[in-house]
Amino acid sequence: MRRPFIAGNWKMNLTLAECTALAKGLAAQVGKTAACDVAVCAPHVYLAATLAALKGSAVALGAQDVYHQANGAFTGETSVAMLQDIGCRYVVLGHSERRHILGETNQDVCRKVHAALAGGLTPIVCVGETLEQREAEQTTDVVWEQCLASLAGLSASQVAGLVVAYEPVWAIGTGKVATKEQAEQVHADLRTILATRYNPDTAEAVRIQYGGSVKPGNAAELLSQPNIDGALVGGASLKVESFMGILAAIS
Ligand code: PGA
Repeated sequence: MRRPFIAGNWKMNLTLAECTALAKGLAAQVGKTAACDVAVCAPHVYLAATLAALKGSAVALGAQDVYHQANGAFTGETSVAMLQDIGCRYVVLGHSERRHILGETNQDVCRKVHAALAGGLTPIVCVGETLEQREAEQTTDVVWEQCLASLAGLSASQVAGLVVAYEPVWAIGTGKVATKEQAEQVHADLRTILATRYNPDTAEAVRIQYGGSVKPGNAAELLSQPNIDGALVGGASLKVESFMGILAAIS
């Protein structure tokens, strides 16, 4: 049985005061135990403050990216050990904004996934097609390629412990959400490719989140799908009320 997992991706938003208030508000509402795994992925500079504000609650901390090298002359980058050191448990990797705006390739993502796992962080590996690709009926090919290339060289047991997020690019921050049927189809396809490439047990173990305009009003129908194990939430994770509304869809 896969435990559902809801993660907020705050992206490059919020001031220090807003971030602390949001984390405190979530900690107070979620409390010490939750019906699913819960995390918030704060901007790097606010990670430590966010963790302090989450203290004592079931909400874990995640980062939005990491560099694959352990240390050294990599100006501006952050290592897995640094994220571990300040209490991060998760790291989002290969988000479409990093792929499309910052030019990250599957190979870059793959190196980061290896480094994160080796250092004890749980990666949330994002895949998803653009609108053009969907309209050209390339969705399955695109997500399979991204998934397999981003996870290249990992063992089946490493793959079983990570999280995949299916985020159609056309649904991110646009208010357009994939229908539950569209999302479930891609999640089921991803599980098929994982079963083929690794084995059925691994495919059954991997949690696959849906992301792209998830809100309190659409969370329940998406999360009720058999292969949708949670959500990666952008805009609606920036307010206590809307993030709690999504969490409520689980319990
Ligand atoms: P959104 O973002 O919920 O604002 O669409 C999702 C994401 O990019 O992870």
